[in-house]
Amino acid sequence: MTLQRYLLLIACATGVLACSPDEETTPTVAAEEPTPYSFSIPNTFPQSFQVPADNPTTVEGVELGRFLFYEKKLSGNNTMSCGSCHQQDKAFTDGKALAVGIQGKDHRRSAMSLANLLWVSQLNWDGSATSLEEQARVPIENEVELHQSLAGAVQKLQVAELYPPLFKKAFGSETVTEENLLKALAQFQRTLISGNSRYDRYLQKKEELTPDELEGMKLFLTHPEPGQGLRGANCGDCHGGTLLSLQTFHNNGLDVELKDNGMGDITGNPRHNGLFRAPSMRNIALTAPYMHDGRFKTLEEVLDHYNDHMQYGSPNISPLIVEASNEVGGKTLQITEEEKRKIIAFLHTLTDTTFIKDKRFSDPFK
Ligand code: HEC
Ligand code: HEC
Repeated sequence: MTLQRYLLLIACATGVLACSPDEETTPTVAAEEPTPYSFSIPNTFPQSFQVPADNPTTVEGVELGRFLFYEKKLSGNNTMSCGSCHQQDKAFTDGKALAVGIQGKDHRRSAMSLANLLWVSQLNWDGSATSLEEQARVPIENEVELHQSLAGAVQKLQVAELYPPLFKKAFGSETVTEENLLKALAQFQRTLISGNSRYDRYLQKKEELTPDELEGMKLFLTHPEPGQGLRGANCGDCHGGTLLSLQTFHNNGLDVELKDNGMGDITGNPRHNGLFRAPSMRNIALTAPYMHDGRFKTLEEVLDHYNDHMQYGSPNISPLIVEASNEVGGKTLQITEEEKRKIIAFLHTLTDTTFIKDKRFSDPFK
């Protein structure tokens, strides 16, 4: 090192000079450290979120995770990837009622959208995973999904030309490990932020909604108080907030006899039988069919369920649903056909067309 450069470094370190970490002053070791990833979060979104301390999000980790998300070697017969069931143009769902794995076998549930997972702490329909790192293992190994042991996946990636250098960039070693594979998938998924729908631009005062959409929004967000002349469809009690999901678990009255206990099977508490996460309404127009088993093909059918076909005898049905009515002493929701139409118009404002085309989230093999 020249004396001049030595003095410069001292001046920087002691704060005598305000130095920018450009190539001149950055020591060579630092160049190998992965670069912290900065999330672009709309200002109307919650600004706080949690990332596990042992898996900070980095540019290189996200890049690796994107390849892995679309990597068919993660499946037992090299035919499917995460992206097969979580397709970007469908807001990362698959358009099927029940997901279908590599051997053509049905999963018992419908694939979920992967938008805004940064704010979801209890994952899956039943809350069975509490981190994306933990979640990612299941679809790889599950017989009705990718059906590939994690150890087998590691072996395949280790001998593929593409991966050792990418693992090195992201995690400092060319050795592919199960842990780092899951970590990279989680990092990529945390970046899938959807916050540029017409509704977002309305909240940011950049765009207007039509009178029908605005009325639909009001109905969606309002809990009915017929005594006070307040009409509402009650949806916001569970699908509220900027994320359009309060991340709470409920029974929304689909069946009297449960075929899937949902959260009850995870906690072992019978009072949780029939409870599922109320998912976000973001991009809902793109993610049909609906519910954990994909039973409803359209949003019209969903609204008919809440208004006309509610199964009040369903075990542990939500009190928020039972006591919501637009008639004094009414036993059902009692919204009109016109009101259903307006709510659906509002739901369509939640489609984020930039999210489904964003190159950063697309298949890098195409
Ligand atoms: C065969 C289709 C299929 C494949 C392949 C698949 N998934 Fe899924 N995914 C599903 C289904 C079905 C669910 C709902 C599971 C449940 O609730 O039991 C789900 C749920 C999820 C969730 C939870 C989302 C939320 O909002 O809670 C995440 C995250 C996820 N998958 C990530 C992945 C990753 C990562 C991969 C690849 C390693 C993958 N999936 C592969 C079908 C699939
Ligand atoms: C008490 C809470 C609650 C209320 C109130 C509620 N929902 Fe839901 N919603 C849920 C739950 C829980 C699910 C998931 C149920 C399942 O799949 O078993 C769900 C699922 C949905 C789905 C399907 C989501 C998907 O990804 O498949 C749509 C659409 C929906 N609700 C719309 C509405 C609308 C519109 C209203 C108002 C008329 C409403 N919800 C009121 C709790 C609620």
